Amino acid sequence: MPINFEELFSINSKRMKKSVIRELLRLTAKPEIISFAGGLPSPESFPVKEVKEIVNEVLDKEGKIALQYSSTEGDAVLRAELIKHSKKNGMDIKDENLLVTTSSQQGLDLVSKIFINPGDPIIVELPSYVGGLGAFNAYGAEMIGVPLDEEGKSAKLLREELKVLNDSGNKPKFIYIVPDFQNPAGITMSLKRRHEILELAREFELLILEDSPYRELRFEGENVPTIYSLDNDGRVILLGTFSKIFAPGFRVGWVIAPPEVITKLIVAKQSTDLCPPTFSQRIIGRFMEKGYLNKNIDKIKIMYRRKRDIMLDAFGKYMPEGVTWTKPEGGLFLFVRVHEHLGIDTDEMFYKAVDKNIAYVVGSAFHCDGSGHDVMRINFSYATEDQIVEGVKRLAEVIKEHSK
Ligand SMILES: Cc1ncc(COP(=O)(O)O)c(C=O)c1O
Repeated sequence: MPINFEELFSINSKRMKKSVIRELLRLTAKPEIISFAGGLPSPESFPVKEVKEIVNEVLDKEGKIALQYSSTEGDAVLRAELIKHSKKNGMDIKDENLLVTTSSQQGLDLVSKIFINPGDPIIVELPSYVGGLGAFNAYGAEMIGVPLDEEGKSAKLLREELKVLNDSGNKPKFIYIVPDFQNPAGITMSLKRRHEILELAREFELLILEDSPYRELRFEGENVPTIYSLDNDGRVILLGTFSKIFAPGFRVGWVIAPPEVITKLIVAKQSTDLCPPTFSQRIIGRFMEKGYLNKNIDKIKIMYRRKRDIMLDAFGKYMPEGVTWTKPEGGLFLFVRVHEHLGIDTDEMFYKAVDKNIAYVVGSAFHCDGSGHDVMRINFSYATEDQIVEGVKRLAEVIKEHSK
């Protein structure tokens, strides 16, 4: 008799949903498709030559350490570099504030694991990073979306939401924020808004989960301090990653948090994967020691700025009336709105777009309340410059064909 796995799967596993983006990416894997869908770095941004050099050096000089398990907290060489790097970025952190993770997606999972009880409300953004929603959902959180405006998560609407939750005795544990070049909306939270959100977190006694993979990819405008560095009472947990500034294939990220949180995360991580990948960590540590990371970030910023400009230019030239888009100062994404009078549902249009060999991510994937059918996320880092122009032309054609 065949085994009935459905009867055996846990309640938690039944809550888990397939990532919509990963599913869409399968459809867009044909070589003729120009994909604006994934949040993939440009392959040209990978520092292959430098990595080769360091891999050889590490294997020659310290292979016995690099191929061994490391501590759960992370490799000492990388940790020392991360502390220097964080200080340079305005964060006064100590050893006990840091945990190296197997990428920031693991940070999202571990934070969920230690804080979320089934039914706990968690405040997210509307729209929000889909992998964050997936992690919180897997632990049974009730997602409450607060819309973004041009300065980030709306403080006014957040206050209203928190008041309602507080009055009903249903207090959220944390507020999830992607403050820099938000995925998917491309918006950066203003300094004023960061202070307002911190103030609200203080008033309602909540934590803030600050997830910031794109922070260092600013091509123009003023840097805004991390929420972590503005906080005086230890209520912010900050997630970082090497995925967009170095290479996602290494799967290394980090968490900066109060020591009590780090201690709990370490225990949670021990039952997840024992330790982050030692070889990846040692390579990145030596890469940073040689000053290669900052050079690499500078190179990526030039490359992505150019791609963003080419994309904005093409949007200006080819998009019909009724379509608007963000002009991000950094990161990887434009967020595109198809206004109501065009009568387009971006979920429905997706399959038509794939038929025309152009792909984007549907806006509804980022909205925990099922809305977002008038928006789409467009990535500008992955496609080549020629593909960007051709892809925008194709997308504009699809929109025109489906407008009422
Ligand atoms: C906001 C945000 N958080 C976390 C991640 C996960 O990144 P990684 O697990 O590669 O570090 C991503 C990836 O795109 C992201 O956009």
